[in-house]
Amino acid sequence: MDWKIPKAECGLKGELEVPPDKSISHRAVILGSIARGVSSVKNFLSGEDCVRTLKAFRDMGVQIESVGKDIVVHGKGLSGLKRPSQPLYAGNSGTTMRILSGIAAGQNFNTRIEGDKSLTARPMGRIIEPLRQMGAEVKSDGGEGHAPLDIKGGKKLTGINYVMPVASAQVKSCVLIAGLFASGKTTVKEPFQSRDHTERMMEFLEADIKRKGLTTEISGTRELVSKDIKIPADISSAAFFIVAALLIKNSRIVLRNVGLNPTRMGLINVLKKMGAEIHVFDYKDEVEPSGNLEILHSELKGVVVEKEEVPLLIDEVPILSLAALRAEGKTIVRGISELKVKETDRVKTIRENFCRLGAEIEERGEDLVISGNIKKLKAAKLDSFGDHRIAMTMAIASLLASGESRINDAECVETSYPGFLKDLEKLKVK
Ligand code: S3P
Repeated sequence: MDWKIPKAECGLKGELEVPPDKSISHRAVILGSIARGVSSVKNFLSGEDCVRTLKAFRDMGVQIESVGKDIVVHGKGLSGLKRPSQPLYAGNSGTTMRILSGIAAGQNFNTRIEGDKSLTARPMGRIIEPLRQMGAEVKSDGGEGHAPLDIKGGKKLTGINYVMPVASAQVKSCVLIAGLFASGKTTVKEPFQSRDHTERMMEFLEADIKRKGLTTEISGTRELVSKDIKIPADISSAAFFIVAALLIKNSRIVLRNVGLNPTRMGLINVLKKMGAEIHVFDYKDEVEPSGNLEILHSELKGVVVEKEEVPLLIDEVPILSLAALRAEGKTIVRGISELKVKETDRVKTIRENFCRLGAEIEERGEDLVISGNIKKLKAAKLDSFGDHRIAMTMAIASLLASGESRINDAECVETSYPGFLKDLEKLKVK
């Protein structure tokens, strides 16, 4: 499916709630399935990635009902999952494959996890290595470090002290979850803070977990207690409209019930440093904090984003780059190597698309350098490269271009934001 997006003639106006948080939705199914008792999950994201996770647990015998926007998960406890009758399929979802591997390592049956072409090309060595250290037997059928993964059951796992070479919430979550099935304590230390939804949900479900700075410790074999879980709107989905409203003159929008976990606030903090007018109101300090955001058109200036800030906005670098193109002066994003192993190599896919729009961004070693001061983008034929966040970034870029742009293969947006185009239409002044 191709999208045709004309230039925005007026500012964006109005109010909406973007879809539920993808990361938290995955974790609600995963931890809910291995907890004891029934969890009602309010506001679950039924985008493709989370539905893969949901299907995988159904395949392992977990009863999960859909009730409107909610789901009800009948948890099986730590030892209640069943052998799936076919390989588990993670599709395009790195979170599904990496966290499921931590679950599979603790089972008494063999599991095979497959993915689509993009996921098969992404690195899995980063989870295989710590799982092997814990005693798991994991084989990569797609060549060393690549899916499909074959995980042997019946292995006794032992807690480890793991110092992570990269800041990755998926790796951290995989090891912590495997730690639930291991004897003794498992500690994970990350180089920089990454999103902490797993730790928050484990605490909420009464796991024996301790957190100190960048280190988290989990004790194995203690059952989790099912609870009702509330999921706020996804700040990574809100990001597209936040940047659109900032860049398009005369805009004022309100985004409701946005997840405001500090480990996901990188984009908002950086935009504020760039001069953005973003106001938080009706803040709710819950397991996962949330609030409403008011965003007003603002003149932005370039900034430097340091390496340790990158995990806090890792999925927002494409849309941040668009904001930086239009800002006054240069923006540098440091330490961008993780961007190259996302659904696509996002350094390459944003550079290619921006080049078609007549704007250049540079890769200098580990830095992304965006010169800024680009007032005009030219309408172009753009490519999602099958990556949902690239498609949505390019949709917003198209609003700022000189005429009508086209984005091909836009159906990938179903991964995280079903209904994106309809929501964009709602905010456009007719
Ligand atoms: C996610 C973590 C991030 C992020 C991804 C979702 C998660 O990946 O890019 O979209 O839910 O844990 P990494 O942990 O690999 O950086």
